[in-house]
Amino acid sequence: MHSINKENKQWWKEAIVYQIYPRSFKDSNNDGIGDIKGIISKLDYLEKLGINVVWLNPIFCSPNDDMGYDVSDYKNIMPEMGSMQDFEELLKGLHKRGIKLIADLVLNHTSDEHEWFKQSRSSRNNIYRNYYHWWPAEKGTPPKRFSFFHEEGAWTYDALTNSYYLHYFSRKQPDLNWENIVVRKEMYSMMRFWLDKGVDGFRLDAFTFISKDINYPNIPKEYEHDCLSYYASGPHLHNYIQEMNVEVFSKYDIMTVGEASGIAPEQALLFTATERKELQTLYHFDHANWGRDKNNLYYPDTSNRKLSDLKKIFTKWNDVFKTDGWGTAYFTTHDQSRMVSRFGNDTVFRNESSKLLFTFLLSMRGTPYIYQGDEIGMTNIRFNTIEDYRDIHTINYYKHLVANGKNTQAFIDAQKEVSRENSRTPVQWNNNINAGFTNTTPWLKVNDNYNKINVALAEDDADSILYYVRKMIALRKLLPVFVYGDYELLAEDDEKIFAFTRSIDDEKILIVLNFCNESNVFISSSSFNISNATTLINNYNTKPNITDKQLCLQPWQAIILKLN
Ligand code: NOJ
Repeated sequence: MHSINKENKQWWKEAIVYQIYPRSFKDSNNDGIGDIKGIISKLDYLEKLGINVVWLNPIFCSPNDDMGYDVSDYKNIMPEMGSMQDFEELLKGLHKRGIKLIADLVLNHTSDEHEWFKQSRSSRNNIYRNYYHWWPAEKGTPPKRFSFFHEEGAWTYDALTNSYYLHYFSRKQPDLNWENIVVRKEMYSMMRFWLDKGVDGFRLDAFTFISKDINYPNIPKEYEHDCLSYYASGPHLHNYIQEMNVEVFSKYDIMTVGEASGIAPEQALLFTATERKELQTLYHFDHANWGRDKNNLYYPDTSNRKLSDLKKIFTKWNDVFKTDGWGTAYFTTHDQSRMVSRFGNDTVFRNESSKLLFTFLLSMRGTPYIYQGDEIGMTNIRFNTIEDYRDIHTINYYKHLVANGKNTQAFIDAQKEVSRENSRTPVQWNNNINAGFTNTTPWLKVNDNYNKINVALAEDDADSILYYVRKMIALRKLLPVFVYGDYELLAEDDEKIFAFTRSIDDEKILIVLNFCNESNVFISSSSFNISNATTLINNYNTKPNITDKQLCLQPWQAIILKLN
């Protein structure tokens, strides 16, 4: 069993991260777009929540083809978000409150409006030509590559130099050529620029794609969408990350978390084991893909959602980091649906199930991530028409369906479950127009339910999700067992109750979660006694119903017991 010692104690393991999608957080100048000053105006809110790290989605100059993930200048702030001075003020305000900031590092691609690409595309002899991946048309059509945003594929023809360029994402996001040492040096210098400013670390966007097989072998049809086998984790990936670590990370006391698309559990330690000197943590997508067809994430497949499978995913990923490396615990990001709509019940049991999900998140091993708005139980937006969408991911696929005479209604219906914009609608602050996010038309519609779900209401209700999250965060900070304790799954085949223990030295806690709209009974194992356990937290106001070895749980009830 683990005990806490100096070597394994790290601030980034103890961190509780809050993700801010700035475009939708708070608009300070009434242009309909959230901005840095808007975040500054909510610093006290963040402090009161108790989080101690903010992951900020990209705020760098960008034409916003993919909402900031298409960077046209890495060292300047996008004017609609504010100025460098605003950013410095934000950093200062966060640090003053004991909150660190990790920036979003877009590594795999730039915008096509970045100066490097403008130069690169201008002629085959330009010194920037080799900053990107080009395929001369005289070699014929390049081998098919899948693009996340264009069904036509990831190579686009550019007439100016009679060549194709590669873009795994949008046509406006050409992939950088990491084989080129000059590119890598530019990127490392950019990273140091932000760290020297005081940024406390990075979330590495799509980092597994930076190395690819540039011999471009043909991909068998059945693997065309399989990033694990053909797109991500190319032959030099580890060399690049190790180099990045030597050149940048090792020089600062920072936190690094990789967006690990296409990394299997068996590979995770290659990136995160301490002696490998690469990253500290990464986050996987296995639970995001739970009950979904991984080859077509545009449609949900709810027929296949077994709690036991979810348990297996979390348990398998916990076990990966049992003795080395470190994981993350999250339910959603700006790329997925709302937490409570996807994993809980966003109607009758919105309050209870949100609290249950937070109980889980904040009692798992691995650094927890809270996505903005989940702390008040915001729900999916469920737009009825394509005109309401702003996300290239949704819009382009819709266009593809139209062009091919396919069923668009089924697609729109599916987006109500799976669209990335479900989680991107503006944060609902109060009952005022546009939920207090802005005084003008917001860039993306506010969810109509803001009259019932907003921060001001939550502040006035001691039984709100917000209050509960604050309590749960305080509890995690209080007892080291939540961070450093071993995790053990109980009753693995139970399809209703998710139960596990965390233990360290002679301390043991039991977490019991009824993932279900009906009441259920948890029968405890004979190895410990629950009848005289202390209740640490309970998302219902009634006393936990414990009789000898049984714990009766109401719908979506979550209880943590300290076993004596
Ligand atoms: C992952 C980001 O989270 C997502 O929003 C973006 O579209 C892609 N990477 C491309 O940068």
